[in-house]
Amino acid sequence: MKAVIFDLDGVITDTAEWHYLAWKDLANSIGIDFNREFNEELKGISRMESLEKILEHGGVADQYSETEKLALANTKNEKYVQLLTQMKPEDIFPGVKEFLEELKKNDILIGLASASKNAPAILESLKITSYFQTVVDPEEVANGKPAPDIFLKAAEKLAVRPSECIGIEDSTAGISAIKDAGMFAVGVGTVEKMKQAGADLVLENTNQLVLSLLLEEFSTKQN
Ligand code: BG6
Ligand code: MG
Repeated sequence: MKAVIFDLDGVITDTAEWHYLAWKDLANSIGIDFNREFNEELKGISRMESLEKILEHGGVADQYSETEKLALANTKNEKYVQLLTQMKPEDIFPGVKEFLEELKKNDILIGLASASKNAPAILESLKITSYFQTVVDPEEVANGKPAPDIFLKAAEKLAVRPSECIGIEDSTAGISAIKDAGMFAVGVGTVEKMKQAGADLVLENTNQLVLSLLLEEFSTKQN
């Protein structure tokens, strides 16, 4: 195992909740119902694709021009970015900083494979940018999650083989992406949802991100 490739939103910090709040605000403002169950389908999905899904969900996909859609996506992002201004280093999920330290001490490479264009700014706010040898820009890859592209790009940039990587995700689209990239998938979330998506190992929370445990599961899977 040579590298760990992280998703950001919902894995490193609670921004999955902030995306939810900002999308709910936007959807409700144009008369579309928005609940947590539907929100699950948006996790890991790019901003414009999420908007398309919301408009379809509301049965109004054909009622907006491309320019209007861009304006709606901007409105959502403005709300989200406004929420991000309160972010502090203490908002990192429990155990994540310790895990990053452990990886660094053991010379394991660290990458970020997030669909979010706000990812670099969030790493800065959390003061953890320096841990990452690569942060893939989602614009660099042709297909978003559940396609494997962004995880494959991270491995390529780290100069490691996918089979030498562990990917960590909270979304079902992200777990599919990791598995299709040929990597070991760690899902953070409920066992049922993560197992169904194909996770090799499920952790209830980020406190369970401990290198020795991951290495043990990783090598069991290889044999
Ligand atoms: C993903 C989130 O990480 O990034 C999605 O899970 C989000 O909810 C996507 O829509 C894009 O984020 P952004 O910050 O570029 O709008
Ligand atoms: Mg996520």
